[in-house]
Amino acid sequence: MNTIPFLSPLLVAVSLIVAGAGAGDETTTCPGALSMTVESACRNVSHTQAMYDACKGALAGVPNPMSDHDATVYALAAARGAMASADATVVAANEQVTYNGSLSGEEKGAYEGCVEAYAAAEHTPWAPFGGGLADDYMSGLLAVESCRDRVIKLPASPL
Ligand SMILES: *[C@@H]1O[C@H](CO)[C@@H](O)[C@H](O)[C@H]1NC(C)=O
Ligand SMILES: *[C@@H]1O[C@H](CO)[C@@H](O)[C@H](O)[C@H]1NC(C)=O
Repeated sequence: MNTIPFLSPLLVAVSLIVAGAGAGDETTTCPGALSMTVESACRNVSHTQAMYDACKGALAGVPNPMSDHDATVYALAAARGAMASADATVVAANEQVTYNGSLSGEEKGAYEGCVEAYAAAEHTPWAPFGGGLADDYMSGLLAVESCRDRVIKLPASPL
């Protein structure tokens, strides 16, 4: 299982948002969002067991998980959890870059890249305004994935 736990909540949220936000007119709800149970939502967006577990964890607080809910409900619940997780990750990565004099150049570069990726992802407006929704989420997702891929290659680290 080569998924880094701290990245999973954000990936789950982004995936649920992409899955839940159908193309359509611009309103503050997700037009064309499917209605499904937590189980189907997590199966729909998870390609690995780790991601499925993260998804179930992210949606653990949704009431009546066995009933169908608009996918927007899941996207919002996951996004709230992801924001908290992303904040903690950025703080931890920033502390390493700022105070840890033992970081190799590779580690420093990876952590700096993660801070940028998370900052960009957090500042992506996640309500479906405007037409560039999918592009914004895809670039956020790719940035976070590149952070993950760089951190995976590092020797064991506090992150
Ligand atoms: C995704 O959700 C829809 C709606 O519930 C369901 O019909 C479909 O089978 C799901 N797909 C997967 C891969 O679980
Ligand atoms: C500083 O970085 C080194 C190298 O990655 C790591 O082993 C160490 O745990 C870090 N120190 C702290 C206090 O996180």
